[in-house]
Amino acid sequence: MNSTDQLYCWSHRQLKTQKLPCKMKRNLSFLTIVALCWCVSASAQKKQTAAAPQLGKASVKDVIKAMTLEEKAKLVVGMGFKMPAMRPAPKKKDTAKTVIPAATFTLPPTDPKDDIPEKVPGAAGRTHAIKRLGIPSITVSDGPAGVRINPFRNGDSSRSYYATAFPVGTLLASSWDPALVHKVGESFGNEIREYGVDIILGPGANIHRNPLGGRNFEYFSEDPLVSGTTAAAIINGIQSQGVGTSVKHFVANNEETDRSSINETISQRALREIYLKNFEIAIKGSHPWTVMSSYNKVNGTYTSQRRDLLTTVLKGEWNYKGLVMTDWFGGRDAVAQMNAGNDLLMPGNPQQSQAIVDAVKAGKITPKQLDANVERILNIVLKSPEFKKYKYSDAPDLKKHAAVSRMAAAQGMILLKDDDKALPLKGKKIALFGNTSYDPIAGGTGSGNVNKAYTISLVQGLTNGGYLTGVNLKNAYEAYISEAKAKQPKSAMSFFMLPPPIPQMAIAPDMLSQEADYADEAIITLGRNAGEGADRKVENDFNLTDSEKALVKNISDAFHGKGKKVVVVLNIGGVIETASWRDEVDGILLAWQPGLEAGNAITDVLSGKVNPSGKLATTFPMSYDDEPTAKNFPGKELPLPAGEKPNPMRGRPAKVTYEEGIYVGYRYYNTFGVKPAYPFGYGLSYTKFKYSDLKLSSKTFNGSVTATVKVTNTGDVAGREVVELYVSAPVINMEKPAEELRAYGKTKTLRPKESQTLSFTLTPKDLESFDEARSAWVSEAGKYEVKIGASSSDIKKTEKFDLPKTIVVEKVHNVMKPDTAINSLKRP
Ligand code: BGC
Repeated sequence: MNSTDQLYCWSHRQLKTQKLPCKMKRNLSFLTIVALCWCVSASAQKKQTAAAPQLGKASVKDVIKAMTLEEKAKLVVGMGFKMPAMRPAPKKKDTAKTVIPAATFTLPPTDPKDDIPEKVPGAAGRTHAIKRLGIPSITVSDGPAGVRINPFRNGDSSRSYYATAFPVGTLLASSWDPALVHKVGESFGNEIREYGVDIILGPGANIHRNPLGGRNFEYFSEDPLVSGTTAAAIINGIQSQGVGTSVKHFVANNEETDRSSINETISQRALREIYLKNFEIAIKGSHPWTVMSSYNKVNGTYTSQRRDLLTTVLKGEWNYKGLVMTDWFGGRDAVAQMNAGNDLLMPGNPQQSQAIVDAVKAGKITPKQLDANVERILNIVLKSPEFKKYKYSDAPDLKKHAAVSRMAAAQGMILLKDDDKALPLKGKKIALFGNTSYDPIAGGTGSGNVNKAYTISLVQGLTNGGYLTGVNLKNAYEAYISEAKAKQPKSAMSFFMLPPPIPQMAIAPDMLSQEADYADEAIITLGRNAGEGADRKVENDFNLTDSEKALVKNISDAFHGKGKKVVVVLNIGGVIETASWRDEVDGILLAWQPGLEAGNAITDVLSGKVNPSGKLATTFPMSYDDEPTAKNFPGKELPLPAGEKPNPMRGRPAKVTYEEGIYVGYRYYNTFGVKPAYPFGYGLSYTKFKYSDLKLSSKTFNGSVTATVKVTNTGDVAGREVVELYVSAPVINMEKPAEELRAYGKTKTLRPKESQTLSFTLTPKDLESFDEARSAWVSEAGKYEVKIGASSSDIKKTEKFDLPKTIVVEKVHNVMKPDTAINSLKRP
């Protein structure tokens, strides 16, 4: 019986018991009866509402007790979603510096009984309200680099709702500076709150398994420690503002090709040590309000339908108290998802709610399970700004946040090459080449995009910084780019499909020679963009295009011919090939995709106002073929089952086996002796650092060991240094990578000759490996080597200690076993 039935019966009973005079009874017309019924029923409804336990006043358990099955099934399923539409054109002239046409999302009309009209246009989804119990609807929005909402509402340009595009995740991780990332999180969280959003759908924390991963820019690193600690820092920063996060995509969403159908076969050890580990560090270190399960299958089952993943590991072993939501339309089976502990299905549709109601009635979901899912949602609703009736301003301090974005961007940029002190720039006259110098890339596409008011190009940034750039080049590039853009195909699927990149403009020889005469130095930017829905390609993406190769060569020849230097700025979201062309240039600055203040932040580093201190959180291989994952990326497509039609949103059935096992990134390159172009942990500075006095608190591990090391700035400008601690563990019963990052730190800004001593304490957890045979984390007895490095292949100091007895650090469940054998890569 639903609440309407209850109301009806109650009012009917009341009517029967009315003591009315007989005459009156006879004279009651049909209409009078209806009117009376309505009055009685309305007052009954009022009473019932008043009597119903209210969220926040009554206990969550009592609220759940008062919910009907239909109400529960509604709460665990989101309010729905309309497919992207093009943003309505603003009516008046848009005054913003660069208007980015954006695909937007609109929620469908809501259930008028309970739900309220759309709150934040462009947000990705909402939960249902249940008004009679005081449960409001909460709003979730993308994405990892800024609040992705519509910049205009109802075609009205009299005001805008632009958001700050912060630097992408890969750049933030390259800062190796959780305190800085926390600061970004604070501004980001404030903006989320002031735009009326309750939960941001980020950060993305999947591992950079392969350089071509289309969403790598949203993710942090190839290493679980850097990834997990960076994720925890941004989550803590955002959540300090009273709003929530959704760390995603749990787990192993490492490719976009067939992302909704791919079955990934991964060993338990690789899962535990690499793909789960980064989430474990992030989640234990920050308690995100929500976790988003991923689209893919792992070892035969969709992650959103795996109880062992969501309930046994996440909620059990890791003691996670928040809620789990699906990725948008992720998984196939609402009932299996509920039973797995995937508490909220997003964006949600009424069929899912109905399936849940039917399953409870048929005994396929226990009332206890559904109540557990509901309870987790209500606990998050209780914390939300919406529940607290927070009066958001719709006017965050965008200026202040842009300044934070610029500061963070400069801190995460990496100086890859600096021959003969090509940088910082010496002269003031710069010849600026490359499309992205004039048409910058602030961040990637898809749900990782941000609708920002502007992106500062490098030409603007250099001008702001007091540099002179040639007006002829600027005019030529701007005309070329706008013409090329006008010719680009307009696709209805623009959210997922990027237009083809614009080839580099060929520079006429006389123009080139004029520029080489006029300018003090040349800067070339090379750009890359990618995003949700597609992986990158080797040719013309990982590798430079022919027009890029020609540009680098021609400019280098012309400028070197006149004794002038050439610097390349990489405005990219993922790894590219550098080995074949890097010798042609004097300097390379890896600027990543630095957010809306791109050009200003790049200029801060080029000019020396900021001394670069970022280091690679992901390896740059010599060639794509060196990649251990290359032969298993993106996997194999399988034939469609008989009678099934291709569905681009679902992808084709596909499979991939992670044969590289634990040997991801530097774990592979270092162990197998393959020299990368730029190793994990690498990055130069405008100054030099000396490492000295590595000391261990003890030569025998007795519960812990502390390493201290002194770092001195021996150059002539102030700077910061990332200090990396790797451990080489003994190979006894389990093979191990040559070394693994177990701790890191970053010095404060050290003045020339200034020193700082950094200290790192290793516990048994920092020595462990996952032993599949025992389903346990084990630190094997033997000799351990502590290696302090300026990168994974530039080890400055080493010391050894003994672990006298093997430690079983933690026994865990034997879950998520592969369903087929894996021909795993073995250490030579
Ligand atoms: C993406 C998620 C995103 C969601 C909502 C999905 O397609 O994979 O990362 O949060 O859409 O926009």
